[in-house]
Amino acid sequence: MKIVLGADHGGFELKEQVKEFLVNLGYAIEDAGNLVYDAKDDYPDFAIKVAKIVSEGAATKGIIICGSGVGACIAANKINGVRACVCHDTYSAKQGVSHDDMNVLCLGGRIIGIETAKELVLGFVQTSFSNEERHKRRLEKVLALEK
Ligand code: RB5
Repeated sequence: MKIVLGADHGGFELKEQVKEFLVNLGYAIEDAGNLVYDAKDDYPDFAIKVAKIVSEGAATKGIIICGSGVGACIAANKINGVRACVCHDTYSAKQGVSHDDMNVLCLGGRIIGIETAKELVLGFVQTSFSNEERHKRRLEKVLALEK
């Protein structure tokens, strides 16, 4: 499974830590930037880049980190095929995938530290969509909004 990561200055440090964590676990990673810390960069640039990569199928899942996770989430959800959410609890990070087919996890680099991020990221990447009828039916109703 390939995972694409992105972050602005608010999430840069946590992105670097999450990247190292996933690489050490053997995941294929694409870093969509920012590749250097830039206090003046803008979260939409990286959120949109990650979202497009996931939407095009070039990565299975994406993780975007800004200061709160909120701006990244708002921007990513503008791209068709992307289902992004801020999850700072493990229940949502897993259920968001199993019930809702969430494919982008947004985190707040100013909200959580690396140990919490590790648990959230593991829950997100290790969980699959349930494919249960009721979840497919609900997802279809959401996907119909993109047509
Ligand atoms: C940047 O200062 C900050 O606004 C951004 O990282 C993010 O938190 C937006 O939601």
